[in-house]
This record gives sequence, C-alpha cells and structure tokens, in this order.
Amino acid sequence: MATKKAPTCLDLCVTTDDFEAAAKETLSEKSWIYASSSASSGLSHQSNLDDWSRINFRPRIMRNVNSIDTSRNILGRKSKLPFFISAMGTLGSSHPGAEPLLVQSATRMGVDAVISTATSKSLEAIMKAHQNEQERLGNLSPSRLAFQLYVPSDRTKARDLIQRVKAAGYQSLWITVDSSTQGKRTADRYLQAQEKLDQGGEVVRQAASDNAFGPAFGGRPTAGYLHPALNWEDLAWISQEWDGPVVLKGVQSVEDVKLAVQYGVQGVLLSNHGGRQIHSAPSALMTLLEIRTYYPEAFDKLEVFVDGGLRDGADVLKALCLGATAVGVGRPYYYALAAYGGEGADKCTEILTEELEICMKMLGVSTLQQLHPDMVNATRLLSEMWRPMTVRSRL
Ligand SMILES: Cc1cc2nc3c(=O)[nH]c(=O)nc-3n(C[C@H](O)[C@H](O)[C@H](O)COP(=O)(O)O)c2cc1C
Repeated sequence: MATKKAPTCLDLCVTTDDFEAAAKETLSEKSWIYASSSASSGLSHQSNLDDWSRINFRPRIMRNVNSIDTSRNILGRKSKLPFFISAMGTLGSSHPGAEPLLVQSATRMGVDAVISTATSKSLEAIMKAHQNEQERLGNLSPSRLAFQLYVPSDRTKARDLIQRVKAAGYQSLWITVDSSTQGKRTADRYLQAQEKLDQGGEVVRQAASDNAFGPAFGGRPTAGYLHPALNWEDLAWISQEWDGPVVLKGVQSVEDVKLAVQYGVQGVLLSNHGGRQIHSAPSALMTLLEIRTYYPEAFDKLEVFVDGGLRDGADVLKALCLGATAVGVGRPYYYALAAYGGEGADKCTEILTEELEICMKMLGVSTLQQLHPDMVNATRLLSEMWRPMTVRSRL
C-alpha cells in the first residue's frame, strides 16, 4: 500500500502517511500484514481513503479566527480534541511497549483513546499506565479511555469482562457490532497458507500474551470472542451490567441508526472496521451522508462518530461539518507507534491537531460549534448515495 519514500527520522514526518512508509520498513512482514490488510480485494479500505477527497470545503472569509478552540463535548465530558485513537487489537505487534505506551502518549497529548478487547496487555495494566501518566501531569490531562467490547458468546464471561472494565474505570463502552464473523483478510490468508506449508501442514498459533480475550497474533480470532448470535435484545442486559454510556461500533446504514435510537444507546460509530470486515462496505462518510439526508433528527438523539481512512485534520472537519461529534483514527497511530514509539504517537496527534487548526482558520470558524453542512460540497458523493429502491422502503 505505501508508495511514499520512508522518512529517515521522526523530524521528517510531516503528514500521517509518513508513518505508514516508516512502519513498513520497521515492522516484521507478519505485523505489517496484520495492520495494513483489509477484506478481500481491499475495496472497502480504498473507498474509506478515497471518499474524504471527494468532498470540498466552502470556506468563508474575513471572520475573526484569531483564537481557535478545538474542544468538543463527547458523551457528556469535554474533550480537548474532536478526534480519538480508534480501537486496535494486539498493539504488541506494533511495539513492545504496546497499549501502555500508546495511552501514555494519548494522556500527554490530551487525546481520548478506545482500548480494544483484543489487547496485548491486560485492560487493568493499560488503565494503570493512563492513571500513572495522569498523576505525573497533576491529573490535568483531558484524555480519557473508553473500552471497545467484543461481546464473548458465553454470557458469564461477557458479564465478568464488563465488570472488569467497569472496575478499572473506563468511561464508555463501544460494542463492536460488525463482526458476526472474521472478515476474509486476503494478505493474511496468503501468509497463513505459507506458514502451513512451511510447517509441513501444521497450523501454528501463538499465545495471546497477557489477555485471554486477545486473538492469536495476526488478528486471527480466539474461539468464542466473536458472537454471531449477538442481537438488539442483548443491549438490555449489557446496558444494565455496564450502567454508563454505550456506543455501537460498526453501524453502516441509516436503518440501524434508527434502531440504535429506539434501543436507547448514547452513540453510534459509523465504521466499516477500517475496511477489514465486510467486502464492498460503504465508507463511514457515505453512511454519514445517508443519516444527514434521511434521518437528520438522529444528530439530536444520539452522538454520531465516524472512523475509517481519516488521514488529515481537514478530514476531521469535513465529518464534523456533516454532523459527527468526533472521529476516530486507527492505522496512523499503529504505524507511528511501530516506527517511533510513544514519540511517534505524540507526533501523529500534533500533525492532526495542526492540520485541524489551520483548516478551521481558513474555513472561517473559531469554534467547532460554528460548523454546519453548508460549509462542505458533498455533491459528488451524494450522487452515489443509496436511494430507496421502492416507495415501500422500510426506511
Ligand atoms: C491493526 C488494527 C486492529 C484493529 N483491531 C480492532 C479491534 O480489536 N476491535 C475493533 O472493534 N476494531 C478494530 N480495528 C478497527 C479500528 O477500530 C477502526 O475502525 C479502523 O482502524 C479505522 O480505520 P483506519 O485504520 O483507516 O483509521 C482494528 C484496525 C486495525 C488497523
């Protein structure tokens, strides 16, 4: 995927894409495939990347943008930035410091992070790393940790896991709902086939380090941690068990946003899992446009988040103009951590923040509350947006 020349040091990283090129040179083949791979031909991932560039701004001029405020209320608390680090499993494959190193950076930089169920380190150790860094900073960082939940198919294990997450102090629960099974990751299939050949037909699996819910390395799922029977009625017991904000991660149609409102969750994350799950998925941006067109009331009823393919602070602003509360960024952080450790993750946040501020100034807004849909031209994407096939549509 990376075609750019790899920068030779962190100082030469100017865009988030630079981390990808650097990581490709740093990572083992297996880790590179784990992070970069996507479903089938890669179409879902590619449209994530492409669709952001198919929207243009409609900047306003001569407004006072002397001082810029990038803060945003997310699930009832004030965040310094309108973007967060998306949930990514097995960060030990990126850097030995794994999730603790990433959350230390997030805390330093004041950015929120969603922690995966499938981590390399235990969820308690990750929270401890965040709390220690908070203490070091006099508890002044606005950064918070949320938890991404793959609901284990065994209800007792699921309850135990939710109780551990609650006891550890995570702020919100992001239930992944796009993973009734594992997507077919083509690059990883080639690798598995080669490994099997090399081992004389034996499939080799590695232990999931400190976490029983972590997948065997390579994003190959552990039995029982993807739950094909998960359904809307399960939200009742999960919400009761959790007793805090719930976000559904992986919503891909306006119909399901309507259901999410009916079932009373606090947020939806429009996402196709970084193009890693269903082949030919809509980009999150396309789903955002569906909501804006067919069900704009959703923005008053719950918080709408977006992730997939965001690589520039300008992309963040485009999503916010269309009504998103905040957006998630995944692979750039994985790659930055791989190539440059915690400092790389710091730089990734710095780059996105600077781009966001530059773009706000030139768009003519000093706060994110001033953004609205007329500040973007989304006509090209709208012309391809889904339309009901019949007047009897169940929309
Ligand atoms: C290496 C990697 C691991 C991921 N692991 C998880 C995971 O454990 N749980 C989950 O819900 N999503 C996971 N995702 C999906 C991300 O949360 C997010 O939706 C996606 O990375 C956003 O797209 P982007 O990487 O283009 O920014 C993973 C993505 C990557 C790249």
